[in-house]
Amino acid sequence: MDLDGKHTIVTGAAGGIGAALAARFHAAGAKVVVADVQTAGVTELAARLDQSRPGSALAVTADIGTEEGNVALIEEARAAFGEVDLFFANAGIGGGTDPITTPEASWMAAFAVNVHAHRWAAKHLLPVWLARGEGYFCSTASAAGLLSQIGSAPYTATKHAAVAFAEWLAITYGDAGVRVSCLCPQGVNTAMLRAGDSPDAGISSAVVRSAGTVLEPAAVAEVVLEAISAERFLILPHPEVLDYFQRKAADPDRWIAGMRKLQARIAARR
Ligand SMILES: NC(=O)c1ccc[n+]([C@@H]2O[C@H](COP(=O)([O-])OP(=O)(O)OC[C@H]3O[C@@H](n4cnc5c(N)ncnc54)[C@H](O)[C@@H]3O)[C@@H](O)[C@H]2O)c1
Repeated sequence: MDLDGKHTIVTGAAGGIGAALAARFHAAGAKVVVADVQTAGVTELAARLDQSRPGSALAVTADIGTEEGNVALIEEARAAFGEVDLFFANAGIGGGTDPITTPEASWMAAFAVNVHAHRWAAKHLLPVWLARGEGYFCSTASAAGLLSQIGSAPYTATKHAAVAFAEWLAITYGDAGVRVSCLCPQGVNTAMLRAGDSPDAGISSAVVRSAGTVLEPAAVAEVVLEAISAERFLILPHPEVLDYFQRKAADPDRWIAGMRKLQARIAARR
């Protein structure tokens, strides 16, 4: 899809990957609706983008961890810019460790934001997209959705579910004109990655340091723009993830043994 003149929504756009995606889409000529629970970040971003091209950016304060939050966001965006051409379900949360100690509320929040948000958005976008034979659904999962996130069962399980949901959409609605892409990065230099250094973040700094090459959000956005113009399903800003994924598929037991060794090395560094 060529984004010039298109109506796009990016969730989790107060900073990090979401803010970089919105800025890049805007530079490519798109109208952008930037949504987040953090009002200040999206208000500042939309004001900056709108100044360079008046009438092209809107900030919406939205909690996409509820169905009502998704409905309100989509309705406000439609009222401003007409039907949505591309929806980027990018908001995500970390947190949680193992199944023994992780509080129920952390599991529920992870599923709401990292998985249910995607299906709630799809539920309210698809009827219109199927009627007009066009629409583009993108989501940010993670390399953890193809591989694993050492130290966090909720992040691993929800990101796998996000990849699976995106795949299902692509299979089911691809012939009806709905395009789907799923972004699966490793380390990106954002508040979420940096929060790994805080003791209550659920992902220790040792795990963060094992996240491979850490990319800047703007570099990720560049890769995403190219993948959207090529309408490619899997977006891998860290190309080595494809190699890891192929090795996992080729020999799952060997891959799990390798991950155990990595886990032990991380534990030794703590
Ligand atoms: N940073 C990394 O290394 C990395 C790697 C792989 C995947 N990801 C994924 O990338 C996405 C973006 O994360 P990021 O790294 O830019 O971190 P980030 O913390 O900067 O951005 C996440 C944004 O989501 C917003 N958000 C959280 N819950 C929300 C809710 N209920 N409603 C609306 N907004 C909400 C936050 O306020 C925040 O602005 C996430 O889905 C994350 O899981 C990040």
